[in-house]
Amino acid sequence: MTEDLYARPDLTKKVRYGQRERELEMEERGEREERIVDIYVTADDLDPGPGARQDAVQKNATQEQHGDFGLINEEDNLHQIRSRFDQLQISFDQLLSRYDHLTAERDSMKRRLCESDGFTFDGGLCYHISAELKNWEESRRYCTDKQSDLIVINSKEKQDVVEKAVGHLHPYLWLGLTYTKEEETWKWVDGTPLTTPTYWHPGEPNNPDENCVEFYDRGWNDMSCTTTLRCICDRVIY
Ligand code: BGC
Ligand code: CA
Repeated sequence: MTEDLYARPDLTKKVRYGQRERELEMEERGEREERIVDIYVTADDLDPGPGARQDAVQKNATQEQHGDFGLINEEDNLHQIRSRFDQLQISFDQLLSRYDHLTAERDSMKRRLCESDGFTFDGGLCYHISAELKNWEESRRYCTDKQSDLIVINSKEKQDVVEKAVGHLHPYLWLGLTYTKEEETWKWVDGTPLTTPTYWHPGEPNNPDENCVEFYDRGWNDMSCTTTLRCICDRVIY
């Protein structure tokens, strides 16, 4: 085959296709086939000299040692992982923006459900502070008549919203927390027991005759349930 390599090309022949174009055409015709072609060249035919030969032998050995063909596969894999990662990143960003959009939509619906009867939507809470003074029982009825209940403060976030809502008003307000003598425990109006965090003023609760809880000056105090105060209602919107 040595002669073939060195044979002068026949320049009178018309060459219509490059290799790639020819492959594409064969593929279209369903003629694509794989061929393994061995090209035999003698060392004498191509020998560029002893130095270069030595280099070539060394290069070959290094390729085998480091598995250059394995590296090509590895690069292929990395490329696939990279593009999968990019796709996932795009999906993630789309989901995130959809999530933000839905959250905003939910909040605007909550606000619409909240804002009636003098209720305010803030910090995810829908609350109303009464103007009239009533004992604890009457205050509770005041709230339930307005599709709400006395507020349950079972997180720092809620305590913070109430502190902010009360702000400069600084009134004494009934909360939805009472002491049940039968169960000898503090309970919120939603039936849940009192758990941490709590915001009792120092020394409170301090009186077995005070079984209802008021809010003032950013803290809680147990108070006689017959005392007449303003109250804070919470309309829970799911
Ligand atoms: C006490 C409270 C108590 C209140 C009753 C205050 O001086 O510190 O614990 O609930 O009096 O009026
Ligand atoms: Ca007290």
